Amino acid sequence: MIKRIQAWLSRNDRQPKPVEISPDNIPRHVAIIMDGNGRWAKRRGLPRIVGHQNGMKAVKRATIAASDLGVEYLTMYAFSTENWKRPKDEVDFLMRLPVDFLALELDELIENNVRVRVMGGTDALPDHTRGAMEEAVARTKHNTGLVLNFALNYGSRKEIEEAMRSIGEDIAAGRLTAGDISSELIDSRLMSGGLPDPDLLIRTSGEMRISNFMLWQIAYSELWFTDIYWPEFDKSHLHQAVAEYQNRTRRYGGLK
Ligand code: IPE
Ligand code: IPE
Ligand code: MG
Repeated sequence: MIKRIQAWLSRNDRQPKPVEISPDNIPRHVAIIMDGNGRWAKRRGLPRIVGHQNGMKAVKRATIAASDLGVEYLTMYAFSTENWKRPKDEVDFLMRLPVDFLALELDELIENNVRVRVMGGTDALPDHTRGAMEEAVARTKHNTGLVLNFALNYGSRKEIEEAMRSIGEDIAAGRLTAGDISSELIDSRLMSGGLPDPDLLIRTSGEMRISNFMLWQIAYSELWFTDIYWPEFDKSHLHQAVAEYQNRTRRYGGLK
């Protein structure tokens, strides 16, 4: 009996109470480290891939909820440059997910005026994964609503390394001088070029780390961590994160 009450309480703790959100201070760019799919499945005695499948549904919920709030950019960390270390079966499944996600959800994303974008080493993706992403980018390129930016085979150190290489090549060729290097130039060479820095960074699953995600861009992001696993994430969690964001004072090193 006590066990049942505890289970009920912990389930209900995981469902935040409704919160007030001010329409004037919506984060322009929300970035999410979607973590805990495997543990979500394990807790239910299911294979890890079932966790990834349910995580896909959470991507859709988060996208629609962010779009409804008026968030302009939503970056989703879907596969890191380090995730190749996982067993081949799991990697294959993760590479199949964007194909399934877009086959199921692209029409609804289009109805919601969502524009799809990708950042990461797309050349190394299997053809079916890259093809599905390219098709989604092409079919949504004229949309003017939320930009849904998938970080796929993304790693921040790799991104910075490539930006440095491209600047180095321009200097060697005489197109730039060392004096031209500025924060703006570096920004423009990153894979997130053209996007504002994330205002709010969310990580699920209770891990308190960044795992090689947007190290340059999150210099002044507000961080929000939650113990819930990614497949459980819904509108109420996004609302809770945004409400807490709205209660923070962003000083950027200055005084209020
Ligand atoms: C997040 O869930 C999805 C990816 C990293 C691709 P995980 O697969 O990392 O789940 P846990 O952390 O093992 O629970
Ligand atoms: C971060 O999650 C990467 C993604 C969410 C795609 P991981 O599960 O790979 O991170 P670590 O290994 O726990 O740091
Ligand atoms: Mg993980």
